[in-house]
Amino acid sequence: MSALNTRPCGPSQEPPIAASPRAFVLRHTRLRPVPGLEEIRLHLADEVLPLWRAVQLETGDPDTALPYWAFAWAGGLAVGRYLRAHPEAVTDRRVFDLGSGSGLCAIAALRAGASIAAGADIDPLAAAAIELNARANRERVTVVRRDVLDEDAPDVDVILAGDCWYDARLAERVLPWLRRARARGIDVLVGDPGRRYLPIDELVELASYDVRTTTELEDLALKQGRVYAMRATD
Ligand SMILES: C[S@@+](CC[C@H](N)C(=O)[O-])C[C@H]1O[C@@H](n2cnc3c(N)ncnc32)[C@H](O)[C@@H]1O
Repeated sequence: MSALNTRPCGPSQEPPIAASPRAFVLRHTRLRPVPGLEEIRLHLADEVLPLWRAVQLETGDPDTALPYWAFAWAGGLAVGRYLRAHPEAVTDRRVFDLGSGSGLCAIAALRAGASIAAGADIDPLAAAAIELNARANRERVTVVRRDVLDEDAPDVDVILAGDCWYDARLAERVLPWLRRARARGIDVLVGDPGRRYLPIDELVELASYDVRTTTELEDLALKQGRVYAMRATD
């Protein structure tokens, strides 16, 4: 993976850098059941700041993104719970998981009977995590490792967007992309714990769950994760 460096390291420095994104993910996470979705196991981390620091060293980029891929976010947990309770939303349907992170929503969709699922993320480490997590759950997720928001949405039946409303610039791009997809007849399911940029006026609430995350990421370990369907516009 071009963005990741392999650099030797002396004894007083960080431990030796992993040779590949896959090795990096394995080294910094532990495979464990997802809280509230124990039938799914993911490679997850406990602490965000030491891992973020490790990614900064690995990439040589002090502005690198948070290691979103190493955590199951409240929005994704809510989508997973919803799909377990309502498999008909995805059964025998083609699913696209936008901002896939760990791949949680794509894996949950396959568990619920989706015919195929793709997970899209711009972070090369997320791509590695999605592959590893899919394999750990004996599922096949197609990894889309590019920014798809300047393209038309793919030809699928359902788009899942778990926890994509935490950043203004991202929200500004995600919303029109989802609107266009919805206008084409694609179902859009959004999972969110009440982030600032959630476009609530365009959504219909379907379900609400107590989801267990971590105070490493959130103000509370127990969050209310809601699942919404995007309204069809006229
Ligand atoms: C908060 S995480 C949510 C991950 C997962 N859906 C979940 O709920 O656990 C948001 C993810 O969106 C990804 N992301 C940010 N901008 C993106 C873009 N333009 N296209 C695809 N993914 C993007 C980030 O890399 C990150 O993995």
